[in-house]
Order: sequence, then C-alpha cells, then structure tokens
Amino acid sequence: MRTHHCNELRPSHIGETVTLIGWVNSARDQGGVIFIDLRDREGVTQCVFRSEVSPEAAELSHKLRVEDVIQVTGTVEARLKTDSVDTTNDKLATGSIEIVTTKLVIVNKADVLPFQLDKELSNEDLRMRYRYLDIRRPRITQNLRTRHRVTKSTRDFLDEQGFCEIETPILSKSTPEGARDFLVPSRLQPGSFYALPQAPQQYKQLLMVGGMEKYFQIAKCFRDEDLRADRQPEFTQIDIEASFVGQEDIIKLVEGLLGRVFKEARDTTIPASFDRITWREAMNVYGSDKPDRRFGLTFVDLTEELKNCEFRVFSGAVAAGGVVKAINAKGFADISTGQIEKLTKLAQAAGAKGLAYIQARGEDRESWRSPFVKRMTDTEVEALRAKLGIEAGDLILFAADQWEPACDVLGRVRLECADMQNLLEGNEELNFLWVTEFPLLAFDEESGRYVAVHHPFTRPLKEDEEKLLNGELSTDLRAQAYDVVLNGTELGGGSIRIHEAPLQAAMFKALGISDETAAEEFGHILDAFRFGAPPHGGLALGLDRTVMLICGEQSIREVIAFPKNNKGSDLMSQSPAEVDPKQLRDLRITTSKKPTA
Ligand code: AMO
Ligand code: AMP
Repeated sequence: MRTHHCNELRPSHIGETVTLIGWVNSARDQGGVIFIDLRDREGVTQCVFRSEVSPEAAELSHKLRVEDVIQVTGTVEARLKTDSVDTTNDKLATGSIEIVTTKLVIVNKADVLPFQLDKELSNEDLRMRYRYLDIRRPRITQNLRTRHRVTKSTRDFLDEQGFCEIETPILSKSTPEGARDFLVPSRLQPGSFYALPQAPQQYKQLLMVGGMEKYFQIAKCFRDEDLRADRQPEFTQIDIEASFVGQEDIIKLVEGLLGRVFKEARDTTIPASFDRITWREAMNVYGSDKPDRRFGLTFVDLTEELKNCEFRVFSGAVAAGGVVKAINAKGFADISTGQIEKLTKLAQAAGAKGLAYIQARGEDRESWRSPFVKRMTDTEVEALRAKLGIEAGDLILFAADQWEPACDVLGRVRLECADMQNLLEGNEELNFLWVTEFPLLAFDEESGRYVAVHHPFTRPLKEDEEKLLNGELSTDLRAQAYDVVLNGTELGGGSIRIHEAPLQAAMFKALGISDETAAEEFGHILDAFRFGAPPHGGLALGLDRTVMLICGEQSIREVIAFPKNNKGSDLMSQSPAEVDPKQLRDLRITTSKKPTA
C-alpha cells in the first residue's frame, strides 16, 4: 500500500512519485491550502494539497480529521526556503521535503478521539481504557520497539553462548517465590487447581536434571501481590539456568548480557563488570538490599561514641544490643519543619519510634538546633563532628535501634532526603551493582518460623553448609544468592542451587516443612535429586524493569503493551470480570457473591 514509510524521504528523493499511508497526525488550513502531517510508526511526513495540482485531492483534503487513515500519492518536492521565507523544519528528519499530493484516498475515517494524542495525559485510567490509542503516541510506540530490541538481543546473546530457549508450563503447580498464587480450577478434576507460575523455578532446575545444561526463557510470571510502579500481577522474566557453574559464571554471563542489551537497545556502553557489595555491607552503609549509589548520604556508625549518652534514645538502644547510625545531609540544615515531619512520619511508618536530628546552623554547638544536643557532652559532640564531618549548614539524621531495623529506617530516610535535596536532578549515570551473600533464612515473628529469603532451593555459602545440615539455624547463615541492581532498582536475582537430596531435605526441615509436606509439594524435586542432579544455578532478570530503565520511564506500565492498573484491572477489556454461571457450574465452583445472570 506504500512505496516508503513516513520517516524515509530526504532531499535525494526530490522529483520521485511516492505513495505513503498512515494517520493524519495534524491538519492545518493555510489560506485554503491544507497541510497534513502524515504519521506512521516510523515518523511524520508533510503532505500538501494544491488545487492547481489535483482539484479532487484538494477538495477531499478539507474533510480530513486527525487520526483518519489516508493513502497519499504525490511528488517529493523541496520545501520553500529563501532569504525571506523558510518552511523547512529541522526538528523533523523529513523536514526539508514535502509531498505535493496528486491523489488522496480516505481509507478509514476516525471518530473524535477521547483524548488528544499529542498532549501528555495525567488521567491514566483513560489512557488505559483506550490503550490502543495511547500506543499510537511516539513515546509508547518507541518503548514497545525498545522492548523488542531487548528481547531480540537477549535471544541473540544467549544463543551465541549456547543457551537453549525452552518453554515451561503456565498451568502448573505452586512454587514458593514468596507471593500469593493465582489459581486456575480444573474442570476435569473438580476441586483441584493449577497454580500459574510465580517463576519457572522448579521447571528450570528439572531441565538441568534433564541434562539441558543451558536454559533460558522469556517467561511470563504471575504473582498475586500488592501492585506498585515496578510491580505487575503478570510480568516477564529473562529466566536463566545453567549446569556446572558457580556464582562467578552467572555474574559474568549476566554482565555480558546486560552489556549487549544496553548497547543494542540504548546505544550505551556500560562497564564490563559491576561493583560488588555483600548484603551486610549494603544494609550497613545504605540501609537497603538494592542501594542507589548515585549519591552519598552513607551511614556513619556512632554506637561506640554514644553508648553512654545521657540522651536515653541512644544509650538505651545500645544497652539493648542495638546501634546508633546517622547520615549527614550536607547543606540541608535549613530543612523546613514540614519536611522534618515528613521524614519523621516515614521513619515511624517503617517502625521507628522517631527520628532524631541536628540542624547544624553554625559551627559551634550553641547554634545547633536539636531536641537533644544539650544533653551531650563535649566529647560526644566532638566525636560526632569528626566522624560525620559536620560543618555549618549540615543536617544530621539518626536512627537508634537493633541493627537491621535501624539500617532499614535510615535507608528509607536516606532516599527521601536525596529526593528532597534533588540530589539526582540531571543525573544520567547508570549505576550497576551486585549485591551478594544474602542471608539464607529470615525469621518470621508471626509464624515463629524461619522462612527462605530467596527461595527454598537456594544453596548456603560453603562455610555455612555444615550448620544447615546440623540444624544450627540462624539469620547469620549466608546464601550463594545475588541480586543485580541498577540505580536502586532490583533488576534481577538468582542463586546457586541445592542439588543434593540430603541438603534439600535439611533446608525444608529448617523451614519447618514436614517430611510429608515436602514429599507432597516437592516430591518431584527431591526425587529428581536422587538421580544424578548436576550442580547448577541461575538468575532471572525482570524484563519490564530492565526496559523501563532503558527507556528512562518511572513505571513498568509504560513499557508493557496492555498493563493492569494498581487494582489489577485491565480497564480496556474490563478484566477481571464475572463469568457465565454455567462456566462456574462446569467447574463446580460457587461464589459467595451471586453472579449476575
Ligand atoms: P525473583 O523473585 O527475585 O527471582 O524475581 C526476579 C526478578 O523479577 C522481577 N520481578 C517483577 N517484575 C515486575 N512485577 C513483579 N511483580 C515482579 N516480581 C519480580 C524483578 C526481580 O528481580 N526464580 C527466581 C530467580 C532465580 O532464582 O533464578 C525469581 O523469580 O526484577
Ligand atoms: P523524645 O526524647 O522521645 O522526645 O525524642 C527526642 C528525639 O528523638 C525526637 O526527635 C524523636 O523523633 C527521636 N527518636 C525517638 N526514638 C528514636 C529512635 N529509636 N531513633 C532515632 N530517633 C529517635
């Protein structure tokens, strides 16, 4: 239907007769002559309708409305450019030519649109209801095309590395990744349910037992959890598993993969290898297992210096075996009362009793504004000054608690503070980081049990293996688990796995999973490990998050063709929806809410 696309014609085409097809992006009437910007997915070309060239086309052009689909045939001509008039547009790749139309076909008329495509729209619900129109905006079109380039270069790279793409079932069995499952009732076996996979974790490990050695999949995953800007109920992973590898091999592979993807999808060269930090260090210094290291505000430990402080918040925390940590927000002493309140509320929401602070307005302590400085000795004040490098104009924020909650709280305060101070404004850095040696177990106060920090197939660090086998459990046990982080977002995570039945059984035992439950839920894995399972490990990258960061977007919804809103609804197709009662009867399901007939 066309000879060229709308971003193709250049001065070298002048004089040629061409046919373009696409949407009316805009129409302008200039003294009775209509100018159309014709758009397709590649770009825009200007078409002009002159009655002396084609009276029919000129006549018809007056009927055109935005988003009509039209086919235009005409001659490529140079746009007028003289000393007094310049009609060229250097913002457009096709801006120095135009089509002088000889024939116009209105292929399909468009109704008035529910919103304008050339303006940013804050009503996200409206955008989602008409997502197919939203996708016509160049920004979303480009995002989806970038996503394609990411999956294409992923496939090319992993294929070159000898990886084999294998599909695994969507109707499957519950796999514990820490979220709630989506269930699908079985008609053939009433009362039984499939679970949609939270990840292909067990299948990929079973493929290793099957001898496939190098697997990957662009895998759909489903998790019924609370939604956020970087979380959807269905999302996509670049899922990877390999046999006869250790952590170092997986890290190298993923660095290579991300290097290739960022080069091909964004034309950016990223470092060949990324910095590494242990989980303990990340928590201790940044208060996060996915630290954003594009700015400082790192933690300073003051436990020793403040253990005898007359201010009980500090000395009491230390006496209870806790810590005192602080950050120095340089030059932020003039923080407003409202902002202090906001930070305090944030700390309290994270479980802190409060947020102690010092506004160091001047050099000497008399000028410092703080609820507790008067209760500190000179030695304590001098220790603070030295360790935190306090100068006139600084704001110091403190957390005093047990180590983990103190780090967690101050970590949140750190991020909010950076936001308030606009520390990231104009920052284009891509800061990649590996976080390693995650804890193997966490203690869940509610159930009074240990739970797996990653998942129950994660291997302990060699040094901690014996302890697991002997049942010497603690949250100090470390795992061969690693996350890759970009600018404070967790891009992916993985681990080296347990491949021996006895160690896996010890892990289930640590998690309080009885032999019967283990046999019932994971019997196939335990069985598989009895028949010569190779050592193996892997990782999964969140594809949506990777594309989001490559596109510079703030939400993964901007890089998913048909996303759900934060209530899990697809506003376009109106799902989830009630179903025909007959469908429920077939499945032998009754709902407490009576379906409308
Ligand atoms: P994990 O649970 O860490 O690991 O998930 C891997 C990556 O998937 C992305 N991700 C999400 N993206 C969008 N919406 C969600 N709801 C969502 N949940 C997770 C994140 C995350 O880093 N089977 C293991 C991997 C392995 O051990 O190999 C797993 O699924 O970017
Ligand atoms: P109070 O003595 O309770 O009035 O607290 C004095 C200051 O310490 C206030 O700014 C509180 O917000 C802060 N504070 C209280 N508990 C903690 C804590 N655990 N860590 C840090 N600051 C705290």
